[in-house]
Formats: sequence, structure tokens, C-alpha cells
Amino acid sequence: MSAPGGTDGPAWLDSGRPLESRVESLVADLSRPEREAIALGEFEALVGRGLPAPHYVDAGTGLRDVPGATAFPAGIALGATFDAELAEEVGRAVGEEARAAGFTVLLGPTLDLARDPRAGRIPEALGEDPHLTGKLGAAHVRGAQSTHLITQLKHFVAYNGEDRRTGEGLGETRGDSMDVHLSLDLLQDAYLRPFRMAVDAGAWSMMGSYNRLNGRYVCESPDLLELPRREWGWQGFYCPDFLFAVRDDAAALDAGLDLGALGGAAGRTPEMVAAAPARLLDGLVANLVRALIGSGLADDPPSATRPASTERHRELAERVALAATVLLRNEGQALPLGEDVTSLAVIGPSGADALYVVGGSAAVEVDPDRRVTPLAGIRARAGGRTVTSAQGSWGDALLPVVPATAFTLPDGSGPGIEVEFTDPQGNRWTEQLATIDHAADLSDPGSRWPVRWRARLTSHASGTHRLSLGLGGRAAVRIDGDVVMVGSREAELFLDGPRYPLQARVDLTAGVPVELEIDYRPGPAIVIPPMGLGPTLRLGWQPPDQLIDEAVAVAAVADAAVVLVNQASGEGMDRDSLALPGDQDELVRRVAAANPRTIVVLNTPGAVLLPWLEDVAAVLQVWYPGERFGTALAAVLFGDAEPGGRLPLTFPHAREHLPGGDHGPETVPTELDYDADGGIGYRAPGVRGHGAAFWFGHGLGYARTTGRLVAATIEEGAVRLRVAVTNHGDRDTVGVVQVYAEVAGEAAELTAIARRPVPAQQTAEAEILVTADSFARWQQEQGRREPRDGRHRLRVSAHAGDPGEAVDIICEAGTLSLN
Ligand code: BGC
Repeated sequence: MSAPGGTDGPAWLDSGRPLESRVESLVADLSRPEREAIALGEFEALVGRGLPAPHYVDAGTGLRDVPGATAFPAGIALGATFDAELAEEVGRAVGEEARAAGFTVLLGPTLDLARDPRAGRIPEALGEDPHLTGKLGAAHVRGAQSTHLITQLKHFVAYNGEDRRTGEGLGETRGDSMDVHLSLDLLQDAYLRPFRMAVDAGAWSMMGSYNRLNGRYVCESPDLLELPRREWGWQGFYCPDFLFAVRDDAAALDAGLDLGALGGAAGRTPEMVAAAPARLLDGLVANLVRALIGSGLADDPPSATRPASTERHRELAERVALAATVLLRNEGQALPLGEDVTSLAVIGPSGADALYVVGGSAAVEVDPDRRVTPLAGIRARAGGRTVTSAQGSWGDALLPVVPATAFTLPDGSGPGIEVEFTDPQGNRWTEQLATIDHAADLSDPGSRWPVRWRARLTSHASGTHRLSLGLGGRAAVRIDGDVVMVGSREAELFLDGPRYPLQARVDLTAGVPVELEIDYRPGPAIVIPPMGLGPTLRLGWQPPDQLIDEAVAVAAVADAAVVLVNQASGEGMDRDSLALPGDQDELVRRVAAANPRTIVVLNTPGAVLLPWLEDVAAVLQVWYPGERFGTALAAVLFGDAEPGGRLPLTFPHAREHLPGGDHGPETVPTELDYDADGGIGYRAPGVRGHGAAFWFGHGLGYARTTGRLVAATIEEGAVRLRVAVTNHGDRDTVGVVQVYAEVAGEAAELTAIARRPVPAQQTAEAEILVTADSFARWQQEQGRREPRDGRHRLRVSAHAGDPGEAVDIICEAGTLSLN
């Protein structure tokens, strides 16, 4: 077939034609065997007709496994910017890097809501709020796809934790993944909303998640896969998540899962596609072709010709880190550090040991020559000030393996550890080993797994010892019968990024043995030998040392002390608690006691508990700030830039105040009841009842701003809010106006954000239009989200817990009026 209008090429390559006619012409040109091959992930027929094939790259906020790619701050940092323009810029930069490396499909952005605060992948996504996640996610999609490629939204849908995400045991015994139960109302009004917004922004693909939803695998559920097509008019293509998302390939094909795997066909067989009705097969081929043409890829295919990263992108990474830094507390204007500070102590993992990125498939390899450590960044900016440093703590790190000399057999008869093994057939026997430093032999098909370790543990020193357990699997560690560490990890090191060991502190007396017992199961470790993934177990320790004392000594003689604390997180793990791991709380307490101008920098994946909060002068939240960590941190500390961020998730007073507080890490259910949550994040009943340590939306900045509602009018069917934003500070700033809707008396929910630059000591006006959609809820009878009739309230607030100023709105059949 040739293109009209004098062009000689085929119709599907004629950019002058409407998209649908290009798609139809290409699908019509493909033979049935070619269509079947495409359904099996073989794209030669498309490539032969001039289209680029899907070529995937993990790209949360930066490319995985692409040497030299820019390590942007983590997704949650982007969430903290509350800035859709910046999200769009990051999307564009990541898109440019992906194309420069020859990729056609970005696996991202991640739009999973932060439901359980322990969830390991919170830092990959944009926080706990559907509106914020949707708004920034949509902007990210617009930016990335403007470079002509496909974004694949993930993970569709209701995938909000790592416990049992892919099942539990090894291999055949893995079993089913987590089953999430939730009503259609909740699905529509919360979890689907960000996907809808990103689809409306043009996203061409979605990744089906690992979990089950109401008893059925998402990737095998016709109702769920059909929903975006039927209700939103979406015409893109689905892929399942890697390896474990499909358990019945024929059912998944039948349900409308377009491709059977992220590469190849996994369990989808030629017989299955041969048996597929023409309508189904043509539909899936058309969905893929439409994305390849509609995204611009067919007309503008990428070529891997340039290095991915550019200086412009690295500067953008730094700007995002600045805009994402949240000033949580600033007593007595401890920050920024002025000329009065002539000496500064920098404490904690602030050198090569600092954390820059999330772990797992969203990890970006940080270029060691480019990354700026916090210490290097501070030293470079400190001018004539004296900068001293002290390790203080190892932070969240795998500690050195406990030496063989520390172990004797349980009966004291000699050195060693008694280990009970089991093989895959369930046969058990006992052996003796010298240390707990075990990685399963992945090349041995009859592999054996240690299931129980018993020994007497004796230290040469008295005092508090830190313990760490590097773990691929599930383990509980007991000392003298008390559980000191318990949890699970799919891998000790998930592809890239930091390791995430379990951590504990125990008091030991020199020469006095304690009884150590470890119960271990290799599942849920993921076994992929070429990727280095498999079961491991390593017990490390740090006997009492002088690290905290040395840090205190350094802090005591400095004008100010900056303490960096951290917690690693990422794919394949949920945190064991919200406490900072190891001895970091004690470090902060002791430094704060020695120096009244103590500034804590939280480099954590989400909310942590802050038992020392009242003792410290200032707290900054930096998330995982990417490769320009040190430069951005120094600019904030010395006041060159404002910490521009707002919290994209709530810091609760206690972990139980948020959903999921009734389980883990000791018990992991097979089902979760989301309807019982009663709201997530700032809408959770526990947070509404007890308040929060820091609310969603909170962020002080250096210039204090306040917002005053000047007028509310109805114009062209929408509420027009005029808000006077006053900058009380002596530096220019950006006011972030947050509008929350209380729909028919329900808990307030963010519905609009306006960012307004305001010069020092001045007032500027922000205008916000709120449409009836802000009062929409799922209406079962109509089968869609519609504005709910009744009396609602809009609140202009500084954060989710701020009553702010309110205006009441009446909504009748979609028409708004002021009360
Ligand atoms: C993750 C996805 C990722 C995929 C490919 C999976 O384990 O859940 O987010 O895109 O791997 O690396």
C-alpha cells in the first residue's frame, strides 16, 4: 500500500495521515502469522515495515543500567516539589536520555500511592495523595513523551507494598501474590485517579501490577484491563510486570493483556495466540502500533548516538534537589547558616557512604566521578569556615560479618555454629559452620537451604552492639529468646542502589555468651542467577566503638552541627519500622545535647519517627537527592537557595496511625482490606484523630508566607478563588497555595495547588479555579465519577492539617453556587 499525496512510502509511515488510518493500514498489511508473532513479543514484522520495536528501560527518575545516565532525585523528591513544571522538565530530560541511549519505552512514571508508610517503593512514586500524584505524574508523562517515546505507567493498580508482592516461597512453592480487597468506590476515587490523569495526558502504555485485586490477578482480570478503555477512552497497550505478574497466560491474553511479558513472551505460547480470535489479536496489535506511531516514534525513531547525560540535566537534578528539600523545623532561625557560623561539624554518612538513590529497578548507577558527597559539597561552599567531620554512625549499612571467634556451638563444646539444612525435597540434616555469611549456590540445582542457625555468641567487649542481617529471604533473629530482628527481603542488594539489611541494637557483656537463634526461610528471595539475585544470609556487627563520642567531641566545639542520618529503601523490601535504623537516634540525641544549633538532615524514603525532635534546632528532609546531593545541600544550608519542598506524605506520631499498622514485619497476611483503611495519609482516621508530627503539605522555607482568601466567586461554572500570598521574609520566595475540598463532610482532600512567586516583604495574588470535578465521587448508578450534589467546603490551607480559611459551596446537578 502506498501513501497518498504523492509520497511513495507506505500509508502507515505517512505523517500527514490521521493516526487511526495509519494504524489500520499497517494492521491490514500484517499477515495472521505476523500478528501472532507480535503477540509473542517478536517485532520483526514491525521493524521490517519501518517502525521501531519496543525497547524498554527502567526509568523512575533516571535510567537504570545505562552508564553515565543522570541520577535525578528520587520520585518522592519530585513529589515534594509540588511543581508540575519541574516534573515535566524532568520527564523531558529522562526522555531525552532514554532516546539518546536508543530506548523507545520508559518504564515509568510510578503512580502508586504511599498507603503503608513502611512500603519499600514509596520513594519511587510521588507520595500519598491522588491529586498530587496525578498532577505531577501527568506532567512527567507530557515531558517524557514530548521527546517522542512511550511512557509505561506503573503499576496498574493497587500495588502499594512489597510484602508478598510476588508470593512467598521459592520456585514452585512461591504461591500467590498479595490479594488486595477494595470496593469500586475506593478504587475509582483514590487508586485509579493518578492513572486516569496520566492517561489523559497521553500515556501510551501501562504496566499490569503483581498483586491480585479482589481475588484475581490484575493482569488476568478482564474487568480491570477493560476499564481504562471503556471509561477513559484509552487506546494504548499493556505489559505485565516482570516474571510474576501473570500466572495463567491464556487467561491474561483473553483478558486483554496486550503483550505477554516485558520482553519475549514468558509463558504465552504459539498455541495460545493461534487460538486467539482475530478481534483480540488485531486489537492488541493495533494498540501497540498505535502507541508506536502516536508517540511520534515511527516518524522520529531514536538512535543511540550520544552519551545520555548532559550538564543541563545535571543542573536540573540539582534544581530538583533544592526544590524538594523540605524544611520541617527551624527554631530560632538556626538555618540558614550565616557569617556567625565560623565552624561547622558535619556528622554521619556524608562521604562516599551517603545514599543518593533508591534501590531496585528504579535505581540509577551514580557516576563516582560526578556525584557530589554532602561533605564535599559543604566544604566547597564553606568559604573560610572550619569544617570538621565525624562518622558518628554507619547509618543504614551492612556491618562487617561477625567473626568465627565470636561463636561456640549451642552446647559450648567447641567453636562453630550448628546449622540445620533442608534441601528442596524437604530432607533435613545438621552441619557446623564457622560464620553466618551464606549465599546460596545458585548453580547447584539440588541447592540446600539453612533453615535454623544456633550458637552461643560472645563478644570481647561490653556495651551496645549494632547487629545487621543482610538478607534475601525471611528471617527472625532471637537473642536469649527475644526477637531482635525480623523481616523479609527479596534480595539483600536488589540490582543497584543501597543494600537493605535488617538492623538491631543489643547489649552484650564481654566474655558472657548469649544464645543466638536464627530461623530462616529462603523465600521470598527472588532467584535470577544472571542478575545476581538469590537467597543470602549474613550476620554483621559493630561492637561498641567511639563513633558517637567522637562526633559529640567534634560537635561540642563547633558553632553548628549538621547530622546526616539515613535509611535505605527500595524494591523487594518493606521497612521493618519507621524508626531510624541502628544507633542514629542516639547519635542525634547526643550531638543535640552537645550543640544547641544541631541541624538534622533526614535522607530517608518517607516518614520516620523523630523522638528527639524537640531537642534539635532544625530538620531538613532531603529524600534521596540524586548525584548533586552535596551541592544542593550546601546551597540550602548556607542560604543560597530556599528549601522549596512541601511534604508529599504525612509524618505520623506513630506508625499505627496510618494504614497497614496492624501487620508486619512479624506477620504478613495474604490479603489486605483497603476498605478498612478509612482513608490514607492525612485522611487516615488515626492521623485525623491524633494529629501528625508533620502534615502532608508542610514545609517552612526560609521566607515565611501566609495565604489569605480575598474573594470567592463563581465564574463560568467554576469557583474562582483569589488568594493573597504575603511573603513576610526578607528574601524572594514562591508561595505554595493548597486548596482542599471537603466533599459532603468527608475528610478534606487536596484538589488544587497554585505556586506564586512573591518578592520579599510583598503580597501577590494567586488565582485558583476549582471546577465541579473537585467534588466528584464514584456514582455507581451512572458508572462514572460525577460531582456529588450537596454542600461542600473548600479550604485554603498551608498544609493538610491547617484549618485555613474556608468557603462553602453548593453543588446541584454539577452546577456550583456559593452558600
Ligand atoms: C518492577 C518494575 C520494573 C520491572 C522491570 C519489576 O520487578 O516491579 O517496576 O519496571 O521489574 O525491571
